[in-house]
Amino acid sequence: MGRGLLGIEDLTRAEIEVILEKARSFQPVQRQANKRLDLLRGRLMVNLFFEASTRTRTSFEIAAKRLSADAVSITASGSSVSKGESLVDTLNTLAAMQPDVIVMRHAASGAPHFLARFLPTPIINAGDGTHEHPTQALLDARTILDNRDRIDGMRVAIIGDIAHSRVARSNIHLLSKFGVDIVLCGPAPLVPRELAELAPGVSISYNISEAIREADVIMMLRVQLERQHETSYPAGEYFRYYGLRPEHLRLAKPDVLVMHPGPINRGREISSEVADSQRSVILNQVENGIAVRMAVLERVLTN
Ligand code: NCD
Repeated sequence: MGRGLLGIEDLTRAEIEVILEKARSFQPVQRQANKRLDLLRGRLMVNLFFEASTRTRTSFEIAAKRLSADAVSITASGSSVSKGESLVDTLNTLAAMQPDVIVMRHAASGAPHFLARFLPTPIINAGDGTHEHPTQALLDARTILDNRDRIDGMRVAIIGDIAHSRVARSNIHLLSKFGVDIVLCGPAPLVPRELAELAPGVSISYNISEAIREADVIMMLRVQLERQHETSYPAGEYFRYYGLRPEHLRLAKPDVLVMHPGPINRGREISSEVADSQRSVILNQVENGIAVRMAVLERVLTN
């Protein structure tokens, strides 16, 4: 996987399995009184976030600390980016402080890939525009495997604003490598037909009941208003056609897992009854974010 982690598309199934297994070995650490392992003592991780984040940024920081690395987090609004410094200059400045890894989130698709060509420091992509969010797909896969023996052959419905979702793209790449039957669903402008060509096993439906039928996993996505320039939907209408409600769950497998990367918008893409139901593993995803990011940091920093 090179020196950093830029996307799921570049990883083999075997590399993904190694990370997921490593993450599983880190899960119990979360429940111990002493949550610190000595594996990355003295290493420095810099978190550089040009976009809002609660889960991803915090869990990268916690993951680094759990492994005894030092962690520094910077947000664009409080940095010299707001004084007009270019992206390359900002990154070179940070690299001059000799971090061992830079974790970055940026609104431009491909930003970390571009910087990785110039910087000596390994970069972990924490979300680039509408392109990829690799650690999210890994923590989603970890969460599925905590509840099922295998991913292979499952039917997964991904519902919502697929066009603008890096979470969807990373998950499509990952699930496809495991032979999953993937159904993408949402309003036509948010689920363009070409997405079916992204990877083998992907189909499209514009009807939520059809998409959910016999699903093993339902992944809900937020409507990414910040990335939509032409399309916008009245919240009530979107919820009526594409919001996940209790009656939908009866169409899926009885033990269906309901997932959402967060932040959730209750009453917009998901009802509170479903988000808080027994079928929801949304908070398990959050918890797994730490073990998976520990596994990724360990891999990138000890390679
Ligand atoms: C997602 C993101 O930022 O891509 N959130 C996350 O990392 N858990 C999804 C979103 O913002 O809707």
